[in-house]
Amino acid sequence: MRKPLITGNWKMNGSAGLVETFGRAFAEIELPSPVDVVIHPPFPYLDAARRAFSDTPLGLGAQTLNPLSSGARTGEVSGQMLGEFGVEYVLVGHSERRQLFQESDEQVYERVVAALQAGISPILCVGETLEERDAGHSEEVVLRQVGYVMARLEPSQRRQMTLAYEPVWAIGTGRTATPEQAQQMMAAIRAYQAGFDRELAESLRLLYGGSMSADNARALLAQQDIDGGLIGGASLKVDDFIAICQSAG
Ligand code: 13P
Repeated sequence: MRKPLITGNWKMNGSAGLVETFGRAFAEIELPSPVDVVIHPPFPYLDAARRAFSDTPLGLGAQTLNPLSSGARTGEVSGQMLGEFGVEYVLVGHSERRQLFQESDEQVYERVVAALQAGISPILCVGETLEERDAGHSEEVVLRQVGYVMARLEPSQRRQMTLAYEPVWAIGTGRTATPEQAQQMMAAIRAYQAGFDRELAESLRLLYGGSMSADNARALLAQQDIDGGLIGGASLKVDDFIAICQSAG
């Protein structure tokens, strides 16, 4: 059985106050069944979040990392540094990083390796654009992104991975993939993994991301191959985020 993972990507949003709000709210609630819950705040809030989340079920995630462990890379942060702050998960290959910061598949792979070397679990984000979907290339694009990284990893490294399918056209648009569309892609990703590691394919957690909300989470999470969610906008509203966590049982 795969334990669900609900993870909130705050992107360049939030505040020190919001960190406190989440810490207080999650200290009081009891989640109905086993579920891993993680928040990825911007870097400056990581230390405050570690303290605010210490008596809660909330785990700590980061939004990116540099492939190097240290050096002359002004403005960048390494996996080693994140590890010092108790970061357990890091997003890699988010479409905003791929598009706005020109991260290539090779750079995504390097970041995944750096995270693994720092003992942090990468959440590898993949997804097609609207043009690619309309041209009928969704599966080809997504499996290329997945394959570029997964095929290069050692079996033991693959087991540390989580994959997040985030169709670019569904991010921040209010236009969610239907549960059927999302399930179809997840099944394709799992089948691809089974091609080289059947056991991994069964245990690998696959998250859906893209306008996931308190209203649509239950239907998406009920799909056989969807093991959780990567939430953007709705992870900034504590009540909505709690409601999504509660639908993951
Ligand atoms: P939204 O939930 O705001 O669409 O963002 C999804 C996302 O990009 C999470 O990483």
